[in-house]
Amino acid sequence: MSIQLGPFEIDNPFILAPMAGITNSPFRRLMRKRGSALVISELVSANGIEYASQRTLDLLHFEEDERVIGLQIFGESTENLVKSCQLIEKKGADFVDLNLGCPVPKVVKKGAGSAMCKDPVSLGKTLSAMVSSVSIPVTIKIRIGWDSESVNAHEIVKVAEDAGVAWVAIHGRTRAQGYSGLADWDYLGEVKAKSSLPIIGNGDITTPESAVHKLKTYGVDAVMIGRGALRNPFIFEQANEVLKGNSYNDPTGDDYLSLLKIQKKYLLEQFHENKAMLHVKKFLAWYSAGYPGGAEFRRFVFQTKDSEQVWEGAHSFFLDHTRRRNTSFLREPFLMGGHG
Ligand SMILES: Cc1cc2nc3c(=O)[nH]c(=O)nc-3n(C[C@H](O)[C@H](O)[C@H](O)COP(=O)(O)O)c2cc1C
Repeated sequence: MSIQLGPFEIDNPFILAPMAGITNSPFRRLMRKRGSALVISELVSANGIEYASQRTLDLLHFEEDERVIGLQIFGESTENLVKSCQLIEKKGADFVDLNLGCPVPKVVKKGAGSAMCKDPVSLGKTLSAMVSSVSIPVTIKIRIGWDSESVNAHEIVKVAEDAGVAWVAIHGRTRAQGYSGLADWDYLGEVKAKSSLPIIGNGDITTPESAVHKLKTYGVDAVMIGRGALRNPFIFEQANEVLKGNSYNDPTGDDYLSLLKIQKKYLLEQFHENKAMLHVKKFLAWYSAGYPGGAEFRRFVFQTKDSEQVWEGAHSFFLDHTRRRNTSFLREPFLMGGHG
């Protein structure tokens, strides 16, 4: 069921949300393979790119099988944002995304992230400069406003449209909310109804059914799923089935094993074993949520140093424990902090 999103024809309307420290190249490859229609890097500092720190430049690495791939940048300096756009175009990424949703004090204090939406006129100038500096599309990801008194996503979408931005992804919370409360999907629907730009809705999607429900009820062009994909890495494939009117099977132990096999391969292709292990331990903890014996398994994972033992433990856990998942964990707060 391919759809048109801005200039791209993509396979489906379900997209992995960018998450710092999580949506690195190996995980993006995995989620592309598992049905995310496109992928976006975590936020990368445009000032860091200007100073060419190796750690920053490493974050811009991507593999061919991630396409359609966007690299996300943030920063308060128009000059550095423009230079970053040009470097990203040179690197061959498919689009550049500007982070306008980051609520973190260190970022907003400098006037970057969600603080940029407080001044739509100045933002419009920055966006126009970015768009005219490259021939790849420029997209943005915003929150609905700074606080409940200044909800202005309508206005920011208009500014983005005038500047030539290709689409706007909106996390349905204000900056003041952080990750508390619920994403305001009614408001996202209103913004979409008045917008001629494609709108991607985002916030609190934890099941394939809710992904399809949000898409259909609020009329957005696509939905972005962040934390929901960490505890259910099959959510994109499942949402695709639901969208087609099909049912889907709950993942079996073998499904987890084949997912982990590919994840291990991608991690070890790009990272040293220690770094790969650090990543995989986080994912094993997330994937095991709600399965019987999950708490004990997570203790084992974090206490075990030997990587082969961790992989073996993961094999036996997923083969033995994935028959009954208790989904009440979906109502518990989860990763209540991030950069967008
Ligand atoms: C750990 C974490 C890191 C995040 N990092 C980024 C980021 O680098 N760029 C960004 O635009 N949003 C970032 N976000 C925000 C997510 O993209 C998304 O907007 C938010 O989590 C709400 O969607 P969800 O309820 O589906 O998770 C981050 C969120 C989390 C939890």
